[in-house]
Amino acid sequence: MHAAVPHLGIDPAWEAGDPAGLAPEHAQHLAELESLDHELAALYRRGAEVLAGAANPAALDQRRAALLGRERGVITLALGDLPGLPLDERKRRGRGLNQVKRWLAEIEAARRSQLEREAEARAATGLDLTLPGRRPWVGRRHVLAQIQGELLDLFHGMGYSVYTSPEVELEPYNFTKLNFPTDHPARDAHDTYFVRPEVLLRTHTSPGWVRAMEERKPPLRRVFPGRVYRAEHVDATHMDQFHQIDGLFVDRDVSLADLKGTLAAFAREIYGAKIRTRLVPVYFPFVEPGAQMDVACVLCGGTGIEHTPAGEKRCVVCKGTGWLEVLGAGMVHPNVFSAVGYDPEEVTGFAFGMGLERIAMLRYGVPEIRLFLENDLRFLSQF
Ligand code: DAH
Repeated sequence: MHAAVPHLGIDPAWEAGDPAGLAPEHAQHLAELESLDHELAALYRRGAEVLAGAANPAALDQRRAALLGRERGVITLALGDLPGLPLDERKRRGRGLNQVKRWLAEIEAARRSQLEREAEARAATGLDLTLPGRRPWVGRRHVLAQIQGELLDLFHGMGYSVYTSPEVELEPYNFTKLNFPTDHPARDAHDTYFVRPEVLLRTHTSPGWVRAMEERKPPLRRVFPGRVYRAEHVDATHMDQFHQIDGLFVDRDVSLADLKGTLAAFAREIYGAKIRTRLVPVYFPFVEPGAQMDVACVLCGGTGIEHTPAGEKRCVVCKGTGWLEVLGAGMVHPNVFSAVGYDPEEVTGFAFGMGLERIAMLRYGVPEIRLFLENDLRFLSQF
């Protein structure tokens, strides 16, 4: 009869490997132990297998500690039990345990260098399957591109197709053909950057109408999205570049009622079905009559009063008026038709133009126009 060897500390769940590749004499050692001491043979077999089965250096450390650890390792504990055994048993067990200890240490060292070689091979190919994956970086459209897309969809549904015209524009297209007389004060609001006296950065997207009309005969239904420039003093609500969309509808018998219907559809789409609007007469050289469309203030709902915990105060968004100007519009001026070769006696038309930054600022409560151009992802990723 042999005394039991404590297997305590060898986790039965540890996966086994094949020690034969690590220790050529494994089978021989096992047979030797088997004839000497069945218990020792079982300990050696299991120990060799869990060392061979360690998948990485950390697992190998853990298993080595359980088997060969100087204080709580299985071998150390078994050696500590020897003094209680009869003399011949003590001798045989003592010799066997020392052999098991040496052979397991050899297998452990062999497995360790095998793991190291595998890691080096992985590093050499640049492929480390143990690294966590990289999350793909998903971008999104700029908030202004989103709003532009929304508006183009809306107008596309009403029969408008897109016309793009140059950002670097000829002076007559930006001004003269749009009925801005030379030296007229209306040009003051459109101070811009000149490339040459006749070539400038466009101040609005309205020059697109002239190009579209010169290209083809009426009827015509177009929208004109794009970037525009003005020599503005830059502050929280003014930039020297921003974005607009103009719309143009030319046919026989187009009326102001058609314009109102179109603008009402736009306002409902962008500001919600219940939005209140009004048209206020305003001068623009290229339309007659000209108007601005206002919508009821998005903050105070049109009352002009903001209710705060501290009491009532004048609404900061509409400055107490209850209304916000959102676009310019009007019936195309006969002089513009003449400038493009259309007969003002035969055709009529309406046009409108709006700023995209303003729509975004009102919709999302953005207080600072410069944010749209800074490309700060902390801002852009909110939309
Ligand atoms: N182009 C004008 C501007 O930028 C806005 C505008 C007003 C456009 C009236 C229009 C319009 O189409 O009919 O200030």
